[in-house]
Amino acid sequence: MNKKTVLTILEKKRLNDKITMLTCYDYITAKLVSSQGIDMILVGDSLGNVKLGYENTLPVTVEDMIYHTKSVKRGNSGALLVTDMPFMSYEITTEDAVKNAARIIKEGGAEAVKVEGGIEIIDKIKAISDAKVPVVGHLGLTPQAINKIGSFKVQCRTENECNKLISDAKVIEEAGAFAVVLEAVPEQLAREVTHCLEIPTIGIGAGRYCDGQVLVIDDMLGMIDNFQPKFVKKYADLSKIIRAAVKNYIDDVKEGKFPQEGNVYK
Ligand code: KIV
Repeated sequence: MNKKTVLTILEKKRLNDKITMLTCYDYITAKLVSSQGIDMILVGDSLGNVKLGYENTLPVTVEDMIYHTKSVKRGNSGALLVTDMPFMSYEITTEDAVKNAARIIKEGGAEAVKVEGGIEIIDKIKAISDAKVPVVGHLGLTPQAINKIGSFKVQCRTENECNKLISDAKVIEEAGAFAVVLEAVPEQLAREVTHCLEIPTIGIGAGRYCDGQVLVIDDMLGMIDNFQPKFVKKYADLSKIIRAAVKNYIDDVKEGKFPQEGNVYK
């Protein structure tokens, strides 16, 4: 399978060819996902919620991201591998930002990093990109800001907020980012940003007009059945399948139906 690079992603925008991205956190999922020709895999810090059982993404560490990136890297066969920089690994100083981005690339094997925020972290985006690490921006709902924003709701409801998002997207592009994730913003705003930028927009809850789409894999596979955001399309109901399989296994073992003749060594 052709290896996807930053250039592939930029070219896709030019050709008006939609970009596909999913999150992954482990070897076997990355193997399955990349075998289908996905453009980008994101080792998201949503890892904190969906794999580590935290309430939010804030406790996730650089070590966590490196550990899971290494696992995904071993399964990935062609997607561009992007890893989230976790909370407080890039906000404090530009040196921290570059050092931690470098660790994620050198130790984890990621090919790009993603950071949340606009003008307030622009020096960090520029420094990371100048250090030859491709950067993806992330605007709109930025889960690392949960303690400031209070809840995971749609962003940019006022004209000022919309204008700020547009100017943030432009400065991120100028600072050297090669793509920007737009999360939980009105469709028309995402459409405007997509038209303003030369770099691609990747939407999650940002409507139909972004250059690409990203989803958390556990959401789209139906692994989490107690909450379903409106913007998620469930492509499978794995939690139901897994529960039924485990129940069958328990019943089989208890009733002596497993193992059977074909499962034993003679
Ligand atoms: O952490 C993550 O999975 C993300 C996606 C929701 C874009 O940032």
